[in-house]
Amino acid sequence: MPEPLVPGAQPAPAPQPSPDEPSALLSPTSLQGAALVGCGSALPVASLSNGELIGLVDTSDEWIRSRTGIGARRVAGPGETVTSLAAEAAGAALAYAGWLPADVDLILLATSSPDDLFGTAPRVQAALGANRAVAFDLTAACSGFLFALITAAQYLRSGSFRRALVIGADQLSRWVDWEDRRTCVLFGDGAGAVALQACEAAADGVLAFRMHSDGSRNACLTLAQGEQQRPLVGQYSAQVGGFSPIRMNGQEVYKFAVREVPAVLAALLAHTGIAAADLDWLLLHQANQRILDAVADRFAMPPERVLSNLASYGNTSAATIPLMLDEAVRDGRIQPGHLIASSGFGAGLSWGGALLRWQGRPGLRMNATA
Ligand code: ACO
Repeated sequence: MPEPLVPGAQPAPAPQPSPDEPSALLSPTSLQGAALVGCGSALPVASLSNGELIGLVDTSDEWIRSRTGIGARRVAGPGETVTSLAAEAAGAALAYAGWLPADVDLILLATSSPDDLFGTAPRVQAALGANRAVAFDLTAACSGFLFALITAAQYLRSGSFRRALVIGADQLSRWVDWEDRRTCVLFGDGAGAVALQACEAAADGVLAFRMHSDGSRNACLTLAQGEQQRPLVGQYSAQVGGFSPIRMNGQEVYKFAVREVPAVLAALLAHTGIAAADLDWLLLHQANQRILDAVADRFAMPPERVLSNLASYGNTSAATIPLMLDEAVRDGRIQPGHLIASSGFGAGLSWGGALLRWQGRPGLRMNATA
């Protein structure tokens, strides 16, 4: 019995969890896995081709395709926002899983381009009508979705929550310098989401993971607060809010990716005893086809088992992994029980990997991105 705070007072009875409270849903030991049971995605309508970019910067379709594999990217137009794209993707994941909005306990939105710096996830919660869910943002650039998936899985494994929507959504067209040919050709807008459900340990869909950060190399890739000051009164001044456009040392990031991604995946395979030959799919952050090819080579993965939609959408930052997952699930490439090696990497610098097993219902073949 805890000591009363006021001497002589009766200690308050321990609060009894209401059945409506997500944290009361499970005992910590009952379910210790997190199953991937639904997915969804959303894209802006406008598709900007490499050819159309030639009118903006000194570039060519040949340069962009040969260096990156990118052929086009989606750009959000009026009325299309991180909130609207994230809500559409999450709504599709919800429907895939067969959940109602009220079933959702947790909404984690990975984004580096929020509609509101105070948090965009609550807007998504409201748009979905998922009133019981706690909703918050997580920022880790292009590693964001994987970090959010791993984070959500911990809440499910601990018994705190039963159902989570994990979303990766970015609108980097807001923050690209459209006069910088080294970066503006790379990025696109979009959103993807996964529905994650608590399950028995034997059915766990997040078999192993690793997460890393190296802030000493932060300058390689930034979308940083500007330094402008505005005078206040006397000797006081305050920083003016606002971010400078994306700046990237492409070669450094490239070298970092082709070194760290194979290392993190190799560590996961060694940890689990799974052989690369047993993987069904390589699902990497979609930044550059040359990076995908280099990692695939390292594990002798044939090209048909390496998922890529770079040609259509470019680098949608936190959205790439769930967007690609959704496409491959809905067109029937990824089947229930398939084993997926995934890795995210990017600004921070940050990187991580996870071995995932897809457990969503089969047979939902529809065009998610139409
Ligand atoms: N069109 C034509 N020429 C170009 C373009 C362009 N769009 N962009 C750059 N060039 C030129 C450069 O100016 C340079 O010319 P110079 O030699 O006369 O100066 C030349 O092409 C070579 O430039 P590099 O930067 O060396 O080109 P590189 O082969 O490295 O390719 C790229 C650049 C595609 C960016 C590559 O380095 C890359 O993919 N890096 C990794 C990016 C990445 O993975 N990011 C992931 C994280 S994103 C995130 O976290 C938000």
